[in-house]
Amino acid sequence: MTAKLIDGSKVALGIREECKTRVEALVARGIVPGLAVIVVGNDPASAVYVRNKLRACANVGVRSFKYDYSADVAPDVVVAKIKELNGRADVHGILVQLPLPPQFQLAQVLNTISAEKDVDGFHLYNVGGLVVGDTVFPPCTPYGVVKLLDYEGISVEGKNVVVVGASNIVGKPMALMLMQREATVCICHAKTRDLAQFTILADILVVAAGKPNLIVPQMVKTGAVVIDVGINRLPDGRLVGDVDFEGVSEKASRITPVPGGVGPMTVTMLLVNTIASAERRLSDRA
Ligand code: GUN
Repeated sequence: MTAKLIDGSKVALGIREECKTRVEALVARGIVPGLAVIVVGNDPASAVYVRNKLRACANVGVRSFKYDYSADVAPDVVVAKIKELNGRADVHGILVQLPLPPQFQLAQVLNTISAEKDVDGFHLYNVGGLVVGDTVFPPCTPYGVVKLLDYEGISVEGKNVVVVGASNIVGKPMALMLMQREATVCICHAKTRDLAQFTILADILVVAAGKPNLIVPQMVKTGAVVIDVGINRLPDGRLVGDVDFEGVSEKASRITPVPGGVGPMTVTMLLVNTIASAERRLSDRA
């Protein structure tokens, strides 16, 4: 079997066209959606991600505000900025780029963001919403994966889904969103013994572990759908996922490439969440 490619760039482009239309409708009613992005320190990967996010905002007409702080900034300064942004009418989404330097208590920072502006979906209120199936903002990466599956017409109901990686940003919310859609979900992580005994059962395999070539063909069921969330830079400069793409493509029915799979969807869902927040403001006003 040679897998069909799931083209995240194409799906993302389609959703961004819808975003433009939604922004135009908001602007016609006097609201320009606005996203505030807080960056602390000089992490090079964060700089690339943030640049992509700001570019995507500009592309669909979302206004962005960027606040840079040095790596040794006092956490109170950042917390005070978030509180100010919570009260600003021209800001509909607030994002603090992670990771933060060690002097920060992550939970304190994330929970300062107003739940109504938490477009990353990391505030405890939004995490709780995910658990009970009543989310305000779904976290962008798992939200992007679910949208990709929707666009491909892949139902998860009753399917065996294995999620590899149990991070708060991807693995855990991914598992909850798939459970909400009535998949049978198994979460594997760094301490899982004999990963292959779980992955081989997956009808849909979602991999977000941050390890190149973690998933090889022997670990994949013939005909499985494979979603690779990993983004790894190899010493030779190549960007690869967590899946042996060439090998697994021979076994899977569908597979996402890296780059061009889940990555463009993550940024796109951030736009969707920001626009949805602005639309909610409008309906509150009506
Ligand atoms: N760092 C890596 N991924 C993310 C993300 O989705 N949101 C934020 N804020 N920081 C990140």
